[in-house]
Amino acid sequence: MAKLMNPPPRGLVNEPWRYLDASSPERLRESMAGLLRKGLPQAGMPGLTGQVTDAEVAQLVQFVFDLRQ
Ligand code: HEM
Repeated sequence: MAKLMNPPPRGLVNEPWRYLDASSPERLRESMAGLLRKGLPQAGMPGLTGQVTDAEVAQLVQFVFDLRQ
């Protein structure tokens, strides 16, 4: 699927962040939560606002972090 998409989705495991503020762990979490809520319209990534709870957003952020361990 990812290979069929244009632009392709970001590799979340081992590529540097392009859209997130990685200047501190807290900012990284906050900026990722904000990106998941708003999405990236220019990239075709849908936002999750109104569809998931804050706790679920936090779980998704943790999931993405765990991918990079
Ligand atoms: C729960 C599901 C998803 C999660 C956790 C997620 C997470 C992320 C994150 C964290 C980024 C920023 C990466 C960076 O800063 O380098 C990103 C970017 C992106 N996402 Fe998602 N995403 C999800 C669903 C989707 C979906 C459904 C699509 C498309 C249908 C999508 C397409 C993209 C694209 C195209 C980018 C930008 C890639 C780039 O320009 O480097 N994502 N996503």
